[in-house]
Amino acid sequence: MNTQVEGFMTQTAQTAAQVGRSRPHESAELHVAGEATYTDDIPELQGTLHCALGPSPKAHARVLSLDLDAVRRAPGVIAVLTAADIPGVNDCGPVIHDDPILADGVVQYIGQPMFAVVAESHDAARRAARLAKGEYEDLPAILTPQAAKAAGAGVLPPMQLRRGDADAALKASPNRISGTFECNGQEQFYLEGQISYAIPKENDGIHIYCSTQHPSEMQALVSHALGWHSHQVHVECRRMGGGFGGKESQSGLFACVAALCASRLKRPVKLRLDRDDDFMMTGKRHGFYFEYDVGFDNEGRITGAKVDMTLRAGFSADLSGPVATRAICHFDNAYFVPDADLRALCGKTNTQSNTAFRGFGGPQGALIMEVVQDAIARRLGRDALDVRRVNFYGKTERNTTPYGQLVKDNIIHELVAELEQTSDYRARRDAVQAFNRTSPVLRKGLALTPLKFGISFNVQAFNQAGALVHVYRDGSMLVNHGGTEMGQGLNTKVAQVVAHELGVDLSHVRVTATDTTKVANTSATAASTGADLNGKAAQNAAWQIRQRLAEFAATKYGCAADEVTFANDIVSANGNHIPFPDLVEAAYWARVQLWSDGFYATPGLSWDAKTMNGNPFYYFAYGAAVSEVILDTLTGEWRLLRADVLHDAGKSINPALDIGQVEGAFIQGMGWLTTEELWWNKDGKLMTHAPSTYKIPSISDCPTDFRVNLFENANVMDSIHRSKAVGEPPLLLPFSVFNALRDAVASVNDYRDEPVLNAPATSEALLMAITELRARSAA
Ligand code: MTE
Ligand code: MOS
Repeated sequence: MNTQVEGFMTQTAQTAAQVGRSRPHESAELHVAGEATYTDDIPELQGTLHCALGPSPKAHARVLSLDLDAVRRAPGVIAVLTAADIPGVNDCGPVIHDDPILADGVVQYIGQPMFAVVAESHDAARRAARLAKGEYEDLPAILTPQAAKAAGAGVLPPMQLRRGDADAALKASPNRISGTFECNGQEQFYLEGQISYAIPKENDGIHIYCSTQHPSEMQALVSHALGWHSHQVHVECRRMGGGFGGKESQSGLFACVAALCASRLKRPVKLRLDRDDDFMMTGKRHGFYFEYDVGFDNEGRITGAKVDMTLRAGFSADLSGPVATRAICHFDNAYFVPDADLRALCGKTNTQSNTAFRGFGGPQGALIMEVVQDAIARRLGRDALDVRRVNFYGKTERNTTPYGQLVKDNIIHELVAELEQTSDYRARRDAVQAFNRTSPVLRKGLALTPLKFGISFNVQAFNQAGALVHVYRDGSMLVNHGGTEMGQGLNTKVAQVVAHELGVDLSHVRVTATDTTKVANTSATAASTGADLNGKAAQNAAWQIRQRLAEFAATKYGCAADEVTFANDIVSANGNHIPFPDLVEAAYWARVQLWSDGFYATPGLSWDAKTMNGNPFYYFAYGAAVSEVILDTLTGEWRLLRADVLHDAGKSINPALDIGQVEGAFIQGMGWLTTEELWWNKDGKLMTHAPSTYKIPSISDCPTDFRVNLFENANVMDSIHRSKAVGEPPLLLPFSVFNALRDAVASVNDYRDEPVLNAPATSEALLMAITELRARSAA
């Protein structure tokens, strides 16, 4: 044994595991050093031109004429293109084909792209884009979900999920709570805006660098727009500076326009949106309007629920269908609802076409349930946690969701019990109420909210993934998979899986850009399934290489292939310990294939979109949080004093990354429910379209006391190393912040009445809720 091998062998067994360990994000050092290459950092080719889009000034109008002469004559302008210049299909809708790339004849929201200007510089293009003169005939515009509901205007047919007889259950209920509730949408606010850089290639080909969660979709949309085959279109994405769902389908329009301009002019064209244009043009989280009627017994146990949800879908379908489906499938959250009648209308509004955003409608669907749980508690004068407990899904009974899936992995009871202890929930509830009795102006609020979130795409076919692993002769490895890196650490997890499978240190594995020429027909990196799907596919590829190497070593050293072990960069066979690179080199000379593809399809899923029934989810992720706030009842200002989070990531592949995801989702969700407010004026113009008017949380909004822990357990399903998806579920944790604020508001009337407070609970909204509650109690 040589000294290098001896060194390796003296390492303890636990260093063999490359999964289940906290490792820095593979690009962490590049991120902080400013060396990570985002699309706009790719060195520009000589002759690169820049594109800007001309927006619609009208929410809904027929375009009578569009005079683009001044745009064409503006300094630096090379070309101006309109819908008439699109050689293929003028559509970038991901599901339904109702989404023009460039408006043609009719405009449907303020900001809708009508034409593309290509100029020598980014600035020249943007300046020119403002010089269009149009004549319009105004058409009736629908600007709110309520108006869409009243008009019966949907971008899709209405959906309904029924179990049992909700009407009868409600009639028979000893208690009922009914009313309306609203939650607003949310801007994704990825730090890197939408961008595509298209480079024409020989023989009618195109290479597009695109900041996208879905390279295969971009490839398909561009090929349709150009009237080309998919094999002519090459889409690549090394990383995004955040996506949050906003780059799943919505990157399509920009990829199509950049590709159109580049193929037409035969020059590289970059389309990078300015932040304001990004806000004005792209879809966001769907705002929801709810009408609900919930029945419950004297313990607070829900007996039946009727909920009618209207989504602000925007002018086209985009991903509203899947968002509404997930909202309906998450109304139950962690609770058994025996009789349910759940409806959703994807309301057509003349605003940006809303899209995926972390949680995909799940947060909206579950939020109304959590508001109702607290309302029940206040009505009955019971502690809200006690009410929640009687409603939790059971382990052996009361364990089927309204859509017919058996909840087999229920850990909500033990998870919440642990958090109740570690957060000191009971004592702090008493302390909050004691504080409020003697504090007339400052009021505290506290809430514990749980979550259950289904993992998998509802569309069965999307639950597949591919990967490609190359082992080079020096033993180093290159991994490519269908998932995209948006900061969540997917590449790090996939590299850990591959390193683990082949028993090498993580430093030997490099993950490359997502690329449609390497892994074909990929799914969006969405629904939190990135690591579940691509981790399994990469493991499958690495396992095949490992099998071949094991067989080679077994033959060479005279043992069975299954006796060969791979750990700590050493392959051991029949008492021989060979450094991994040496075995690889020997295998090369013996003509062993050292690269492999891999594939994975999630088993056991089913979904009937008509009846909204089936087993849409492979498993559920769980979590809970306790938040304590202090509210100034004279100004509506507040602070989150402390948050305790216990989140289920199964057997975590990388606890550091998972905790980062939980923290990030918590703060992002808190922003959605409190300070982030989208506001359209009476003409339908989004007025909050920059950080000056749209307030995302900053570091000073984070609680000084933030205790985030992972709940230790293994996934009962055979997920990748028994881990659980963690990208979206924790966005539901800050329901506890919203409910704590409602709790603090309710204190002004000694918890006798239910506050009228929608989301976001901005300081202004809080102040109005306090005023209204005081007026109600005085009346
Ligand atoms: N984390 C970061 N840093 N940036 C992001 O854009 N997107 C979220 C989540 N976490 C996002 C993120 C969303 S919407 C999803 S669906 C998942 O990551 C996608 O990645 P995953 O499936 O690999 O978890
Ligand atoms: Mo995430 S909303 O599924 O991209």
